[in-house]
Amino acid sequence: MKIVKTVNEVREIVGEWRKHGLSVGFVPTMGYLHEGHESLIKSAVTQNDKVVVSVFVNPMQFGENEDFNSYPRDIERDSEICEKAGVDFIFNPEVSEIYGKHFSSFVNMNTLPDGLCGKSRPIHFKGVCTVVSKLFNIVCPDRAYFGQKDAQQLAIIKRMVSDLNFDIEIIGCPIIRESDGLAKSSRNTYLNAEERKAAVVLSRSLGVGRELIENGENDAKKIISAIRNEIEKEKLAKIDYIEIVDMNMLQPVNEIKESVLVAMAVYIGKTRLIDNFIFNQIE
Ligand code: PAJ
Repeated sequence: MKIVKTVNEVREIVGEWRKHGLSVGFVPTMGYLHEGHESLIKSAVTQNDKVVVSVFVNPMQFGENEDFNSYPRDIERDSEICEKAGVDFIFNPEVSEIYGKHFSSFVNMNTLPDGLCGKSRPIHFKGVCTVVSKLFNIVCPDRAYFGQKDAQQLAIIKRMVSDLNFDIEIIGCPIIRESDGLAKSSRNTYLNAEERKAAVVLSRSLGVGRELIENGENDAKKIISAIRNEIEKEKLAKIDYIEIVDMNMLQPVNEIKESVLVAMAVYIGKTRLIDNFIFNQIE
């Protein structure tokens, strides 16, 4: 399986596919692939004639004090995983291929990026929207696959595709977890053994929240406070945010009356982890 480095080559290959009327699925990633990414790739392989995976650690979505330099990278391993999964090629450009010397256009959005992860990562979603738009314009897929793990990102991409009329279907895929409940993430590699054990507190505390809602509790404050109490039992954990928001505009709700997203970011030691669940009122 080929690793393509340039925009021109992507255009040539995908252009040939298009001439033959083949459908194209696209999975954008930052690499260091795990079963979460693989589940997106599997859906793409099942639903399309051809599949492209991008592996690009996008500097624009990392804040100054974030982990751009230390973000784990292993293109050889990624390439083996993609080959086995039936991917047609990986697009793995250099930063200079994506952001030329005079780069100065950005895709930004109001409201949706303000809360949740956007509060502590103010430039993050501008970087995500810009790179994903560029990748969409380069690959021109029929369908693109994103994980519910990054629920705010998924909502923002869906909004962007609708607002800017990208002719691409966005497919959201469920969260893949370790056997103890921890959501799979490339950043889990930062955790030492003790932190790895502690990290299960994210999914465990979300379980407490879910149970309350399922038993009829609809006061968002009470649910958040029960989740907070559960997290505070874990000494290595420091809460960044716990929020309950509506599914469309991601605005905090007081009462659970409709489908909601219950989302959190928690530091385990120095590693910031995220997790969430969606509660569908009408199931
Ligand atoms: P990355 O963190 O590599 O994630 C790539 C895709 O995999 C995202 O859509 C993410 O939601 C999904 N994913 C990660 N962990 C998952 C899990 N445990 N279960 C299900 N899906 C999971 O998200 C990004 O990269 C970047 O922001 C990107 C969209 C590539 C733009 O740079």
